[in-house]
Amino acid sequence: MTNFPQTPGSHYRPAGLRERLERALALLAPAGQALEPGQLGALDQFHTRGLAATRELAELGGIVAGHAVLDVGSGLGGPARLVAASRGCRVIGIDLSEEFVEAARYLSERTGQTAQVEFLHASALALPFGDAVFDRILLQHVAMNIRQRTELYREMRRVLVPGGRMAAYDVVRAGGEPLYPLPWARSPEHSFLLDAAATRDAVEAAGLRTLAWRDDTPAAIGWAQRLLQAVGAPPAPGLAVAMGEDFPQLAANLARSLLQGRVGVLMAVFEAA
Ligand SMILES: C[S@@+](CC[C@H](N)C(=O)[O-])C[C@H]1O[C@@H](n2cnc3c(N)ncnc32)[C@H](O)[C@@H]1O
Repeated sequence: MTNFPQTPGSHYRPAGLRERLERALALLAPAGQALEPGQLGALDQFHTRGLAATRELAELGGIVAGHAVLDVGSGLGGPARLVAASRGCRVIGIDLSEEFVEAARYLSERTGQTAQVEFLHASALALPFGDAVFDRILLQHVAMNIRQRTELYREMRRVLVPGGRMAAYDVVRAGGEPLYPLPWARSPEHSFLLDAAATRDAVEAAGLRTLAWRDDTPAAIGWAQRLLQAVGAPPAPGLAVAMGEDFPQLAANLARSLLQGRVGVLMAVFEAA
């Protein structure tokens, strides 16, 4: 296994993930029966507001058929599969977690999308691509794990074609410290939140200009309220399959952090000069 710097501990490295996914998917369809990417949304869209947020980000980012798209920090591959299916483009995902990369490949076999999506084990800080090869980049709920924002955004700028766009969807610092453990970090040493203005400054310093800017906090607060109301409801297969049985507690801490104004959510699109 390649060793990359800045691995957020064992947080995204669950053991036995393939077997747990197989068991969860058996509840949705018999093995051998193709699944629709949207059917997996509860367990493979690892960010606030799930499928809806990915659809909105792809729309805001202007992703169209034929675009070469890179998903940085692709997780279980849900956003890549949804964007490939709904926008008619090819998507490459990279992720630091080898376990997640393998899971993303398995789930893409189950949705019959291995020709449209590809997943590689790589660091966002050292993308394994030449210069100017992607039309669009997605970065959803990943920057919160990365301290070296300047390097991150410069690296994305490097692989974008001139006029290419990076569509970001981040939790951002707002009125205070978030409540831990969180979905992206069980303790503060793995969380590197910036506020919205500092995020924009870091992206623009890397040679990208702001095209679209949306404070997504009100929508995230609606999501948080629904999530907290559902606590105690019968469990359905969700991100706990990948992240462990305490995941609802992590998600509830994010919901409370949003409701208490400690954090916000930003959706924004930036263009390479
Ligand atoms: C909260 S998950 C989001 C996954 C996916 N973007 C989504 O929205 O479904 C964060 C992901 O970022 C990945 N990640 C964190 N730091 C990374 C880095 N330096 N390079 C590549 N991936 C990274 C993690 O392994 C994890 O899969």
